[in-house]
Amino acid sequence: MTDISVFAGADELARAVTEEFVELAATAIADRGRFAVALAGGSTPRAAYTLLASESFASRVDWSRVLFFWGDERCVPPDHPESNYRMAHEALLDHVPVPGQNVFRVLGEEEPVQAADTYEGELRTLFGGSIPRFDLVMLGMGGDGHTASLFPGTAAVHEAVRWVMAHRVEKLDAWRVTFTPVILNAAANVLFAVSGAGKAHRLREVLEGPHRPDVLPAQVVKPSAGRLVWMVDEAAAAELSGR
Ligand code: 6PG
Repeated sequence: MTDISVFAGADELARAVTEEFVELAATAIADRGRFAVALAGGSTPRAAYTLLASESFASRVDWSRVLFFWGDERCVPPDHPESNYRMAHEALLDHVPVPGQNVFRVLGEEEPVQAADTYEGELRTLFGGSIPRFDLVMLGMGGDGHTASLFPGTAAVHEAVRWVMAHRVEKLDAWRVTFTPVILNAAANVLFAVSGAGKAHRLREVLEGPHRPDVLPAQVVKPSAGRLVWMVDEAAAAELSGR
């Protein structure tokens, strides 16, 4: 099931994403006693994390039962300005009472392939060896159609065995560690947050164009037994049909 919701602007979008996080957390904690969420990097997710840290939202979450993971990471130390872990820390984790042992970051400072293997091993231990069914995977979409760190033309887009992998992304001249489609598509809820006119054309191609995942990696995200939600603002939605 794919659900597309359009919000007036970036602020309304951030508010809706935050509300969704809070509601999914409450349901998962009531049902299963914990909420496992994989975070994204990028400016759109960041706005939601900042809002989530504010009193009116933060007070509605039982942070002791939230487990934090990252769907992708840049291969840099955790205090580096490009670190997704650092971003989430500054925007959210520093401001809410989440126990340190609930935070599972990718070791971006390690050799990338080793960091990916270590992360997958950690997930295997935590989730008892079966593919983790995340309660929520938060994702952004880049202007080139990438999501998590699945970039156009990379083999990771088609990975069917590994849960986490490291690869060198030529266009960035950098290594990234990323969840593969195996784990993304096993989630209970996947939430894309996309904002801005710069994403409008790509968003139309991803949602309404032919299936070309090598060009538009965001298209590989289709949870097999989960909910797929796209939350976008008017600017990003401008080229969708019917608008
Ligand atoms: C990353 C991300 C990436 C991001 C998108 C959207 O580490 O770069 O996880 O997939 O979410 O590029 O980013 P913006 O919201 O900043 O456009």
